[in-house]
Amino acid sequence: MKHLIEPLDFTTEEYEEIFRLVDDIIAKPDDYSHVCDNKLLASLFFEPSTRTRLSFETAMLRLGGQVIGFSDAGVSSSTKGETLLDTIRVIENYADICAMRHPKEGAALMASKVVKTMPIINAGDGGHFHPTQTLADLITIRNYKGSFDDLTVGLCGDLKFGRTIHSLVRALNRYENVKFIFISPEELKMPDPFKNFIDKENYEETRDLASVIDDLDVLYMSRVQKERFVSSDEYERLKDYYILNEEKLKNAKEDMIILHPLPRVNEIAPEVDKDPRAVYFEQTKFGMYGRMALIMRLLEARK
Ligand code: CP
Repeated sequence: MKHLIEPLDFTTEEYEEIFRLVDDIIAKPDDYSHVCDNKLLASLFFEPSTRTRLSFETAMLRLGGQVIGFSDAGVSSSTKGETLLDTIRVIENYADICAMRHPKEGAALMASKVVKTMPIINAGDGGHFHPTQTLADLITIRNYKGSFDDLTVGLCGDLKFGRTIHSLVRALNRYENVKFIFISPEELKMPDPFKNFIDKENYEETRDLASVIDDLDVLYMSRVQKERFVSSDEYERLKDYYILNEEKLKNAKEDMIILHPLPRVNEIAPEVDKDPRAVYFEQTKFGMYGRMALIMRLLEARK
């Protein structure tokens, strides 16, 4: 039994298999509408979500399966003091596969250690990892760029708490000659544990987006993660540090793509939405297809 807890749980070859499956699902969706008949997804969200939860649930329904779960820990027995691991042991009696989001880093990993038959998918654990967002990101980049090799990728905004960024960097670092430019204020720099595994010549750090934007093939914008701040004053001071607008995009390459895991707050002005380089809404659709392929892979479902 396989789980997806962090991006490196799948080899690059396994990702290629998932990408090919996504291509086939997009080309022939009707072929997949019963591959998970009689299978049940538990969707356990102890933290708010729009895209991840709804795309997981849509993915399972489109595969013919069914869904149980909760979108608010406040309606679960965790409010009565039930531990996460007891909850997971119980859910395993009901469901075939589980997607879970939890504010505690390592929660999904702990859950994966107590299950016997139910694959666990980490749908975000605190400020740590978000590997299925990475799947959406990789599918989007592959769609527009053809491959991951030789790309210069700018990651901009909250690199300290941004779990989507930690995950994506980990996944992309396995490809040939990928260069990262980490763009953030000093207070939101990429933490050392997420940076130390990258060769020093393969990344640079700056706070000045304008000085590097013309180098980028991919610009990954991110929201300042209000929910992870201890000080609301600090959040208020940093929240609008970057606001991408058409003026700032003037020096960017014509074929650069702009990604964002969403939700956005102010970091991308609405005027950018009509720029052909803005692919963040397309990215959400690829996320759903990626989750369909992932569920199939973990359940070993075939058409
Ligand atoms: N990208 C993402 O994780 O969005 P949600 O928080 O809405 O799931």
